[in-house]
Amino acid sequence: MSLEATVVGSGSWGSGFARLLANRGHRVQVLTLTTVEAAQLTATHENPHFLPGVALPPEIRFVAIGDADVSTAELVVYAVPTQSVREVSRWAAPRRAAGSLQLSLAKGYELRTLKRPTQIIEEETGSPAAALSGPNHAEEVSKDMPSATVIAAADEAMAVALQAAITSDTFRVYTNDDVVGVEFCGAVKNPIAVAVGMSDGLGFGDNSRASLITRSVAEMTRLGMIQGAHIATFTGLAGIGDLIATCTSRHSRNRLAGELLAKGASPAEVQRQVGQVVEGIPTAYALHDLAGRLGIEMPVTENVYQVLEGLRTPQECVADLMGRAPKKERHEE
Ligand SMILES: NC(=O)c1ccc[n+]([C@@H]2O[C@H](COP(=O)([O-])OP(=O)(O)OC[C@H]3O[C@@H](n4cnc5c(N)ncnc54)[C@H](O)[C@@H]3O)[C@@H](O)[C@H]2O)c1
Repeated sequence: MSLEATVVGSGSWGSGFARLLANRGHRVQVLTLTTVEAAQLTATHENPHFLPGVALPPEIRFVAIGDADVSTAELVVYAVPTQSVREVSRWAAPRRAAGSLQLSLAKGYELRTLKRPTQIIEEETGSPAAALSGPNHAEEVSKDMPSATVIAAADEAMAVALQAAITSDTFRVYTNDDVVGVEFCGAVKNPIAVAVGMSDGLGFGDNSRASLITRSVAEMTRLGMIQGAHIATFTGLAGIGDLIATCTSRHSRNRLAGELLAKGASPAEVQRQVGQVVEGIPTAYALHDLAGRLGIEMPVTENVYQVLEGLRTPQECVADLMGRAPKKERHEE
């Protein structure tokens, strides 16, 4: 079945996901932030800043969000940074068809409200939204390298419809009804990757990386379970799957951000050098608030927050993590 699809956001994942949809036979328009960007993408069908070296199918239409019509879209995909999800879903609310499917690709928590992307979309549009999350670097998906993902929705029929629309020979979609857990894992892995990048940047090796990742799973599970996440989600694609990809990949901008922080760059310099959204930065702030409100210890992500706030150096974080009180590995807190 071919759908009329609109992808809001023309960054790495918006472009890569639009390509995936177009190659599955859907009719795709991508909404850009500016008319200049829409004109450039229309002329070249390449996105040299966000997704260099990838030819985007000629059938994809690029339209500036200010000029766009989404009234006939059967599927609206939100492919913008988490902090922009409210703005674009508020924009889409009065313009989209009431029954259209909605899918979020964003990974993070909204600062101040501490809401997840699908919660924001549902609040703004008054309609349900599903979340897609997993080890899916746009750079690799866009080269048709095989990967798997999860679509989470409370409504199973919606998840199955999206699974059928998106699954391809190289992109395998699983459904999951644990929306809280899938979105939580997708958000938390980013500041963890910043921590791993700091470890790499300090010149540490595989033991340090593996220890950090594994202990991060412990704190991730602690906070996630309190939020209502299902334990199985942590060992799934959106959990450990995405954590491995993000913490070890050369494509991960969050890991790169950590490396730059370890070499002394300020958060603003990091953001400038990376040149694309680094979700781990706002998410570290959101987790600091969330864990603080709930009284949950999150040593790894809290140390990332401390570095971002200039309260601790990466070296001091190592001392803090290694100097914590001795514990049982399976410590029930
Ligand atoms: N890049 C990946 O491989 C990947 C994979 C999985 C999930 N994600 C998640 O997807 C989300 C988007 O990531 P990305 O990598 O595409 O980011 P990006 O920085 O490459 O691009 C973000 C895009 O959003 C656009 N944008 C921002 N605010 C907008 C607004 N108000 N209206 C219209 N467009 C707006 C920007 O112009 C830009 O084109 C993030 O939450 C990220 O964590 C990314």
